[in-house]
Amino acid sequence: MMAKLTTFERLYRAATKYLPPRYAARIDHMRPAYRASWGGPLNGQVQRQALVRQIFRVIDFDEVIETGTFRGTTTEFFGYLSGLPVHSMETVERFHAYAVQRCETLPNVEIAHEDSRTALRRLAARPDNRRTFFYLDAHWQEDVPRHEELRIIHARWSEAVVMIDDFEVPGDEGYGVALYGGHRLTAEYLPALPGWRRFYPSTHSDAETGARRGCIVLATEALARRLDAVPLLVPVDRPAVAAA
Ligand SMILES: C[S@@+](CC[C@H](N)C(=O)[O-])C[C@H]1O[C@@H](n2cnc3c(N)ncnc32)[C@H](O)[C@@H]1O
Repeated sequence: MMAKLTTFERLYRAATKYLPPRYAARIDHMRPAYRASWGGPLNGQVQRQALVRQIFRVIDFDEVIETGTFRGTTTEFFGYLSGLPVHSMETVERFHAYAVQRCETLPNVEIAHEDSRTALRRLAARPDNRRTFFYLDAHWQEDVPRHEELRIIHARWSEAVVMIDDFEVPGDEGYGVALYGGHRLTAEYLPALPGWRRFYPSTHSDAETGARRGCIVLATEALARRLDAVPLLVPVDRPAVAAA
């Protein structure tokens, strides 16, 4: 989802490149276009935002974890929407500094300058069992952490809903998909996640706004039953109803 750079953008980046990241981030804050990455939270996708609101209406989460903060547009959205503890993490120091400055008035938001896998292991090591909404969006580097992130979450969290951005929505080519090492981000890419179920957005890409990226939603069994009631989701594999 990398747009072609304008001449101004190239000059701006060259002029600020050698500043200490937190000073560069302060200057970045003066640029309104940087505030709304791809038009707003969740890639500026109004239907995706509505989908997240529906999920939060049917499930009482304890916290939100986002991997890949960038400039904190979606982090801030989760902070206001949920009022819950929100943990986000970012490896690029300048983006991290920008997002921390952006969210400094939100006491429930914590943004770590950390690799997503290290951060997930740190959060997984806490003693309690939290019902968690995950938004997995850390990429752009050669090394894409998605598989390992999913393995860590699957091994530790017994109540989780995981939304993965930039994912293929089968049968709807209008949604953008990320390429990881030359491979499209599709269901075949996922590690085995026994006991979890899969959902896709029910909104056709024509009715979506913003960057129109696809997503998949994965859920542990008990929470998946609640997602069956979310109109903006289509279940892939609804379990058979047990005979009375
Ligand atoms: C697509 S952007 C995230 C957008 C953000 N979630 C939003 O909705 O505005 C991906 C971000 O992930 C970061 N990133 C890449 N690999 C990472 C990793 N292993 N751990 C944490 N962040 C990572 C990149 O530096 C980049 O800022």
